[in-house]
Amino acid sequence: MTNRKGIILAGGSGSRLHPITDVSSKQLLPVYDKPMIYYPLSILMAIGIKDILIISSPMDMPRYKSLLGNGKKWGINFSFKIQKKPNGIAQALILGEKFLKSDPSCLILGDNLFHGKDLLLSLKKADQDIKNASVVTYPVKNPQRFGVLEKRNNKPYKIIEKPKKPKSKRAITGIYFYPENVSKEAKKLIPSKRGELEISDLNQFFLKINQLSVTELGKNSTWLDCGTFDSLLKASNFVAKTQLKQQNKIACLEEIAYKNKWISKKKVLEIIEISSSSYGKYLKQVIS
Ligand code: DAU
Repeated sequence: MTNRKGIILAGGSGSRLHPITDVSSKQLLPVYDKPMIYYPLSILMAIGIKDILIISSPMDMPRYKSLLGNGKKWGINFSFKIQKKPNGIAQALILGEKFLKSDPSCLILGDNLFHGKDLLLSLKKADQDIKNASVVTYPVKNPQRFGVLEKRNNKPYKIIEKPKKPKSKRAITGIYFYPENVSKEAKKLIPSKRGELEISDLNQFFLKINQLSVTELGKNSTWLDCGTFDSLLKASNFVAKTQLKQQNKIACLEEIAYKNKWISKKKVLEIIEISSSSYGKYLKQVIS
């Protein structure tokens, strides 16, 4: 385990999901049986990251605080930071400067869902490499919507944000590992034409100085960003179907915390007592 800290970016305007995001933050919407943010949070916890900063908008922050609390119920620590305006994903690393105290970091987008058999092994490997930045790619049909990794001679060559004519189908997913002092580099970024501090520009910087490693996920893993009506529905269907098939729950935070030995059986029992949903029933199975 490294001293890496986690950041979940859960702000933004949610305009692509209007009107369902008019009174709720996108990352609090349900993905089948859990709030969306549980999924990226479960990934950080499964990697072994215990210090996590939640970044969200002034309007939505109180809701995150009441959902997550200080983190003790899962044996972890939450800090919270407001992003006044959605000025870009890379701004999260500037807002997180004090929290990171120059430690290595893992930034994950609050609307990204990852699942898969070998996924965790790959992410843990990226976590171990504290000298380099790491991005994770996934093959997609519509690369125009994402940051895309272009390769030359089978080596990472260029990262382009939402290319009009993508030269590859490898999208860069919303989980990023950075070495110490990333905030300093993020501060040097210049806003793009759309006025945002682009995470792709930061990743391109690490690629240029030969400090970017790439983890390529294959089709035996699943990556979904829940940013549109269709992908939100797809994510809910995926979770429902997979859980039924595998007879377990994806992103059950108490299960991960219990298996990591971060919380005791007594703590899980306390949660079971207040949950009369299938979530509580599942937790009973976990501890028995
Ligand atoms: O999902 C992966 C993709 O995420 C990457 O392939 C792209 O390189 C990256 O730019 C990003 O693209 P999106 O078009 O999905 O970014 P979006 O503006 O939708 O923001 C992603 C999430 O981050 C969304 O849940 C809102 C949140 N966000 C975004 C910005 C720009 C914030 O909380 N604050 C922000 O300033």
